[in-house]
Amino acid sequence: MEPIKVRIPEVFAPLMKEKIRNKFFYGGRAGGKSYAFADSLLLLGRERKLFIACLREIQESIKDSVYKLLCDRINFYGMNDYKITAGGIRNKVTGTRFVFKGLRDQDSRKIKSLEGVDIAWIEEAQAISKASWEILEPTIRKDGSEIWISMNREQEDDPLWLLVGAVPDEQTLVRRVNYTDNPFCPEEIKRQAEKCRQSSPEDYEHIWLGAPLRQGNTKLIAAADVRRAFAGDAGQEAGPLVIGLDVARFGDDKTVFCFRRGRCCLRFESFSHQDVVETANRATFFIKEHRPRRLFIDSGGVGAGVYDILKDRGLAGVVRAVNFGEKAIYDARYANRRAEMWDNVRQWLNGSLPVRLPEDYDLLGELCGVNKKYDRRGRLQLEEKSELKKRVGRSPDMADALALTFAEPVREDSASGPGDRGEPCLEELFGQADGKNEKW
Ligand SMILES: Nc1ncnc2c1ncn2[C@@H]1O[C@H](COP(=O)(O)OP(=O)(O)OP(=O)(O)O)[C@@H](O)[C@H]1O
Ligand SMILES: [Mg+2]
Repeated sequence: MEPIKVRIPEVFAPLMKEKIRNKFFYGGRAGGKSYAFADSLLLLGRERKLFIACLREIQESIKDSVYKLLCDRINFYGMNDYKITAGGIRNKVTGTRFVFKGLRDQDSRKIKSLEGVDIAWIEEAQAISKASWEILEPTIRKDGSEIWISMNREQEDDPLWLLVGAVPDEQTLVRRVNYTDNPFCPEEIKRQAEKCRQSSPEDYEHIWLGAPLRQGNTKLIAAADVRRAFAGDAGQEAGPLVIGLDVARFGDDKTVFCFRRGRCCLRFESFSHQDVVETANRATFFIKEHRPRRLFIDSGGVGAGVYDILKDRGLAGVVRAVNFGEKAIYDARYANRRAEMWDNVRQWLNGSLPVRLPEDYDLLGELCGVNKKYDRRGRLQLEEKSELKKRVGRSPDMADALALTFAEPVREDSASGPGDRGEPCLEELFGQADGKNEKW
């Protein structure tokens, strides 16, 4: 085969030269990542027979993939040994082949077809979910196989960043590359970057230097606050036990119970595919076993049926129905109950007293994934569940269960007056945030 002189920037040399399991390249726009990955794979595929999988989170059609880029590079270099077909690319001499797949579509049966992969290229890795990575990583199992990752950071908590890039193990090489490292960066692109640097330094850092989006503008809850709670020393567990129950609305959502005592969120228990009677039975069991002061249940959808059963069983003293969409207690400030409860979680997390959450990165993703907005009256509103589900592919079941434990302040039995059934007083209900999180 005729040798072809390709032009791969020095920073990407490890792609072809180093033998290491994970190669993680991240950075801003126009760093040369896609070109360097494509060129390196095409060259390696001419040297020996390789099975190469080009993967992304969602691929509705091959047009969404790096297929076109690979075809362009083949044509640009005149690599006649590659044969391009409608569904893939093959090298006629070495037998190398490229396949293109979306990880979201894979199930345990389909993913098996990737077991012989030599190199998996995950493009736009910022969109890869933890679930996809957990299916993929053990599938790429051939001796000497490699996973190449290219990412433009999106959020502080991009799952693959947390799982692979942030704290690299000895099997992982991490490199940051920006347009300033790309010797082939077109002048026009440099001009656009410079214009952005002058007009909006924050956008410049994100778009061109690959920094994750700063939280605070669109996100309700900051990742730093959640991480602090993972390591939080909230002292002795004190305060009444409160359970939040978020009931699954759709087949793939989970029914989640969250257990919280004051400043300690103790644990979550999740269940799939439960009908209302099974969920009511679990709730009854938890109430009898743990004697919570309150169990708040989301009664917007299917949860209403669970609530009715629990009431019928004589548990109305403990169980309260909360409809996410209903008017907030502090109506002037929140568009609905859900926004109010989530904002209570935010205040609990960044109040002056330490709080504790179980260390769970799905929970972190859920809490920090939800966007906030304001309605025409300037009241806080959250991104609709359906929008969020479309954007991140799942609904925040754990975070909603945690939020439900903040539906109303709950008092300890001993603090109650005669005949008081743990109802909060009006000042507690309407008390404004004062930077302290004692009321929870
Ligand atoms: N080997 C190369 N030869 C010629 N031009 C190149 C080469 N590598 C990169 N470029 C130029 O640099 C531009 C940016 O490269 P590339 O698209 O690979 O960057 P990227 O890091 O993938 O950026 P993005 O975040 O925008 O996807 C390309 O559009 C191309 O114009
Ligand atoms: Mg790219």
